[in-house]
Amino acid sequence: MNVRIVFTTAKGETVEAEGAAGIPLLEVAQAAGMPLEGTCEGQMACSTCHVIVDPDWFDRLPPASEEEEDMLDLAAGIARTSRLSCQIVLADGMDGLAVRIPPESNDMSRF
Ligand code: FES
Repeated sequence: MNVRIVFTTAKGETVEAEGAAGIPLLEVAQAAGMPLEGTCEGQMACSTCHVIVDPDWFDRLPPASEEEEDMLDLAAGIARTSRLSCQIVLADGMDGLAVRIPPESNDMSRF
């Protein structure tokens, strides 16, 4: 079953996309044209896949690992509900998941 994701771009536009359960959110975001570099391809070494999860959804996702939290500390524009999208694996219960693309995601100058 496909899982629907609702992205809000840095400009405030809404983009809906779908992905199969079992694939990382980062992959869906990139396929939908979101400007997430995902430089390390899910190795938790870059934080360029940072997204801000809708607060209504944040507690419904499996919690971040300690490594993910450490990496998020280095991400630009961090928020209370920030996550690394490469670490969120789509599951059936996530249909309608809403995430925001941080405005800093185009700024690669700090890497
Ligand atoms: Fe590098 Fe997610 S792709 S931390």
